[in-house]
Amino acid sequence: MVVWAGSVERAWRRLPAASGIRGPRWVIARWRRSLQFRVGVITLLLGVTTSMIVGSYLYQNIAAGLLEDRTRSATAEAVQLAQSVQRQFDATDKTQSEDALYTAAQSFVQDVAGTNWSRYVVLSRLSTTRSSVVVPTVLSGEVKESAIPSELQAAVAQDLRRQHVQVQAIRLVGEPEPVPSVVVGQQVSLPLAGAYGLYFVYPMKQERDSLAVVSRTLLYGGGLLALLVVAVTSVVTRLVVAPVRQAAGVAERLAAGRLTERMPVRGEDDLASLATSFNAMAEGLQRQIGQLEALSRVQQRFVSDVSHELRTPLTTIRMAVDLIHASRHGFDASVARSAELLQDQVNRFEALLSDLLEISRFDAGAAVLDPEPADLRRTVTRVVDDVQPLAARRGSRITVADPGEACIAAYDARRVERILRNLVVNAVEHGEGRPIEIRIGANAGAVAVAVRDHGVGLRPGEASLVFNRFWRADLARARTTGGTGLGLSIAQEDARLHAGWLQAWGVPGQGSCFRLTLPRAQGTPIESSPVALTPGATEGGPEFAS
Ligand SMILES: Nc1ncnc2c1ncn2[C@@H]1O[C@H](COP(=O)(O)OP(=O)(O)O)[C@@H](O)[C@H]1O
Ligand SMILES: [Mg+2]
Repeated sequence: MVVWAGSVERAWRRLPAASGIRGPRWVIARWRRSLQFRVGVITLLLGVTTSMIVGSYLYQNIAAGLLEDRTRSATAEAVQLAQSVQRQFDATDKTQSEDALYTAAQSFVQDVAGTNWSRYVVLSRLSTTRSSVVVPTVLSGEVKESAIPSELQAAVAQDLRRQHVQVQAIRLVGEPEPVPSVVVGQQVSLPLAGAYGLYFVYPMKQERDSLAVVSRTLLYGGGLLALLVVAVTSVVTRLVVAPVRQAAGVAERLAAGRLTERMPVRGEDDLASLATSFNAMAEGLQRQIGQLEALSRVQQRFVSDVSHELRTPLTTIRMAVDLIHASRHGFDASVARSAELLQDQVNRFEALLSDLLEISRFDAGAAVLDPEPADLRRTVTRVVDDVQPLAARRGSRITVADPGEACIAAYDARRVERILRNLVVNAVEHGEGRPIEIRIGANAGAVAVAVRDHGVGLRPGEASLVFNRFWRADLARARTTGGTGLGLSIAQEDARLHAGWLQAWGVPGQGSCFRLTLPRAQGTPIESSPVALTPGATEGGPEFAS
């Protein structure tokens, strides 16, 4: 009952949509997606076919049975009646003239004609009769002599004794359609006039009407049966499909991260065991993910703790190294060189430690955005001014092209500065002293900056690898440069925090281009970037994403 109430209510809600015209596409889509629909359609087709086969078999059997009964009773009756007519002819004394004989024949025929038109009688001269006395054809009612099939007439004429039967549709007076009838014929011999054919016509009106009722009943019954079967199958499939759909829904929610989702277990049947296994799987998944999360938390904590712990001794080392470095001129040359190397490495160590702390903050989800409206051109200028001395040392000239108007967006200036500094420093370090071009742009939804160099470039596939932690194209080279190998991964985390894009492009020997795109307002997704990532393109969409 609950099932019915639910489905009726749902059907009612779907009614406005269902009453609209639905094309074959809708049917195909339903067929592909809904198991219930598919089972329903197949059952309907099979049901209709089966009831058609069974119906026509029953109809034919009933029709044959009715005909057989009618024929049997008709022939039995005709024998009796023919004998009585023959007896009357044998005993008659109306043999003075043809007219008298005709009148007598009429009265005999009327005697054997049925009441209520249940049978008609025809007495007609046979083709083989040669007598000179001719009695005209006698008809009992609304049949004509032409209604008697000529083959039957011929058969009767040939055979003196036997009765002949034929089933034939006969046009009766007052009936719009020919009525299937049993026609029984035999010979009678008339005084003087010789052998005549006596035919009894039994119209099967009643049988015809009964058959019509039977066929109507079979048709409606078959249709109703097919619909009932479809309804039953639909209910049964729903019983099976509903838990499967539920399982699919739960699986989807699990996949979306809601690990506590479970299927309800009812009873002890197959579906219940499906639900139990499903829940066991979800349980296992949740446990494993929990373990992994715990492990990863432990690792994060470890990295963060180690970094923190290293800071104190590093501060002491730093002070000592600064002292040694300041008084290096008093040492001999090789010791002085070592003091310089020591300071370089301590600088790197410090940078690495602060990068590690930053990364562990991202991993712990502790990084928060502090957005404020700012002009991207200002941030770029600040970064370029900072990097200018390094660029000068490497012989790279940095040019900045901006649209000449403010490129305002809400972003965290400290983080964006850090991203840009890393991009520009990278461009200088890998730019081989060639010019570096920085382009700034803005459109309705986003602002962007692209840093292009003409240095070593990136090999195919490296455009996405550069963002991996500690990834370097050339390990030997990297040691001589100042980077820690974490710069771009921190930059990407910073960009992600802004819901922005950080993408790379590069060709070996032609240089590379790194583009940062930021949404103008936090919470509105970027549709396209106002500056191009690859040379030649006018602007870039997400298809350029690394
Ligand atoms: N402009 C560039 N041209 C060529 N390669 C680059 C460029 N920027 C970055 N890379 C490659 O990506 C690697 C990672 O960069 P990054 O994360 O900034 O670390 P680091 O600069 O400390 O090496 C670099 O070592 C370099 O191989
Ligand atoms: Mg770097």
